Amino acid sequence: MQILVTGAAGFIGSHFVEWVLTKHPDWQLTNLDLLTYAGFEHTSRELEAAYPGRYRFVKASVCDAEVVDQLVATHPLIVHFAAESNVDLSIVDGQAFLNTNVLGTHVLLEACRRHEIQRLLVVSTDEVYGNAWQDRPSLETDPLLPCSPYAASKAGQDLLAFSYYETFKLPVVRSRCANNYGPRQDPTKLIPRFILHALHDQPLPLYGSGTNIRDWIHVTDHCAALEALLMGPDSLNGEVFNVGTSVEKSAREIGGLLLQALNKPQSLLQTVPDRLGHVRRHAVNSDKLRQTLGWEAQISWESGLQSTLEWYQAHPEWWQAAIQAQAERIPGYDKVYPFRNW
Ligand SMILES: NC(=O)c1ccc[n+]([C@@H]2O[C@H](COP(=O)([O-])OP(=O)(O)OC[C@H]3O[C@@H](n4cnc5c(N)ncnc54)[C@H](O)[C@@H]3O)[C@@H](O)[C@H]2O)c1
Repeated sequence: MQILVTGAAGFIGSHFVEWVLTKHPDWQLTNLDLLTYAGFEHTSRELEAAYPGRYRFVKASVCDAEVVDQLVATHPLIVHFAAESNVDLSIVDGQAFLNTNVLGTHVLLEACRRHEIQRLLVVSTDEVYGNAWQDRPSLETDPLLPCSPYAASKAGQDLLAFSYYETFKLPVVRSRCANNYGPRQDPTKLIPRFILHALHDQPLPLYGSGTNIRDWIHVTDHCAALEALLMGPDSLNGEVFNVGTSVEKSAREIGGLLLQALNKPQSLLQTVPDRLGHVRRHAVNSDKLRQTLGWEAQISWESGLQSTLEWYQAHPEWWQAAIQAQAERIPGYDKVYPFRNW
């Protein structure tokens, strides 16, 4: 089987490569990735070394219709991760988010329409729902009320993908996952950022009161859900599935736990002005996925957080290279992340 994965030099995509190539020893995989500030060459090199002859890297944009068409022609399974995924940066300038997340997805959908594909799995996000309802987590049937330009661009992607099922009967499945954490997440994201700041005795910045809630899932559990969706029956086509664990934690709680684990003072928790349009609570109901495919998360929050912390402690060469690449590629990196000067 030939599988095309977009954006696999990034966080979740790289774990998904490991997941599927380990589980399917006869599969060959192509990773299409532009290597933006969130995609790392050293991550791709590690995958190449781990799966010699079975992992191929193509450096290109998902907006490049010619390259995408050539790849789709020879890969019947496609998993679409490639995205601009940084909420803070989408608030500074949303243009790249619209280009990649909406127009890039359109390029991919058009290529899929021209060729005989088996399935396209579009990795959307729970951020498309905006604030979860006060009394319950978000359901797949809830309205999409995205609160950031990032989330709005993902909602555009998500709905465009659905329209290609309705209009062209394209075998497309969508997932809306909660917040992921685990090894190899880029240092601008909350958990790695808190870990690296705590390791360097730097303040952990809490937006506003630090009490905004997210539903947290270990990246490996997300990969298992995605594989189940990719391999599931034809009846999944056109459907959308939430993926989450109902482990709801605030940034303040997470920062506190990491500081405790590292024996650092809680006084390192420091509030900063709130993010514009900051969502109070993201949380999803994943009953549909559980009941349809029997998926269950396997990694507890406690062990997942501890092992993530240990991974960052053990892999300074990975995050140092990532920080260097990001400082070169993100305009105004020091302004958006004023705490990184260790
Ligand atoms: N991280 C989360 O908590 C989370 C939760 C739910 C859904 N998602 C979705 O999962 C997907 C992966 O998330 P992630 O956290 O791994 O993101 P990431 O930012 O770590 O990785 C994104 C990857 O896409 C690549 N990319 C960006 N623009 C591209 C383009 N135009 N062409 C080709 N490649 C491009 C980047 O180089 C990078 O390797 C995204 O679509 C995101 O919206 C993420």
